[in-house]
Amino acid sequence: MLELKNVSYHVDKRDIINNISLKIEQGETIAIVGPSGSGKSTLMRLINNLISPTEGEIYLNGKPYEQISPETLRMKISYLLQESDLFDRTIGENLAFPAEVRNEKFDRKRAKYLLKTVGLGHYNFNTRVDHLSGGERQRITIARQLMYKPQMLLLDEATSALDKQNSEKIEKLIFNMAKEGVSILWITHSNEQSSRHFKKRIKIVEGRIEQEDDLS
Ligand SMILES: Nc1ncnc2c1ncn2[C@@H]1O[C@H](COP(=O)(O)OP(=O)(O)OP(=O)(O)O)[C@@H](O)[C@H]1O
Ligand SMILES: [Mg+2]
Repeated sequence: MLELKNVSYHVDKRDIINNISLKIEQGETIAIVGPSGSGKSTLMRLINNLISPTEGEIYLNGKPYEQISPETLRMKISYLLQESDLFDRTIGENLAFPAEVRNEKFDRKRAKYLLKTVGLGHYNFNTRVDHLSGGERQRITIARQLMYKPQMLLLDEATSALDKQNSEKIEKLIFNMAKEGVSILWITHSNEQSSRHFKKRIKIVEGRIEQEDDLS
């Protein structure tokens, strides 16, 4: 589904990503681990086409990234950032945003279901998000990201700030999407999490794949 071929990313002669080759199949679940500053978020930004490799090539379903428009790519590959990036309006307006950019009807039923699944079922769509806590905002960001089913979901420490109960609910939701064929690439510092559901664990050190473990 996704393939990186000898991908490098250099800034000022520094190798932030150094010759990474990787194939990710449909529905595959991969945990990305590695020390701080090793290049994990940079790898995700490359896969999300927010930055381009200085060497190498990335292919989605056999097609090189240059031949795919950024809008199309970002609908197929969804990137959940480390920090929440909601607009300071209502929950409903935030959850309706993915439909808006696609010119589609807002699926209120799915939004309600997701809100409940991330543990915020007691709020209604008119609640303003600027009054919510950091963890609540992050959970709304996750719900917004899951309004549409992408081909691949990139998660950057998505649940690191959440309590155990909420993290587990969200993990369940996300791994159910994997069963429906969504590929998952998840940066996590939690060993417990990385061994729980993933099929594979990749360790990045100094911009290279240092170790690849089969967990299945
Ligand atoms: N555009 C850039 N210019 C200069 N340095 C950069 C740039 N992008 C990333 N870096 C550097 O590359 C290294 C890897 O950054 P990255 O954010 O990918 O690390 P990470 O593995 O996600 O770390 P963490 O676990 O702390 O989030 C860091 O040292 C960072 O400062
Ligand atoms: Mg990072």
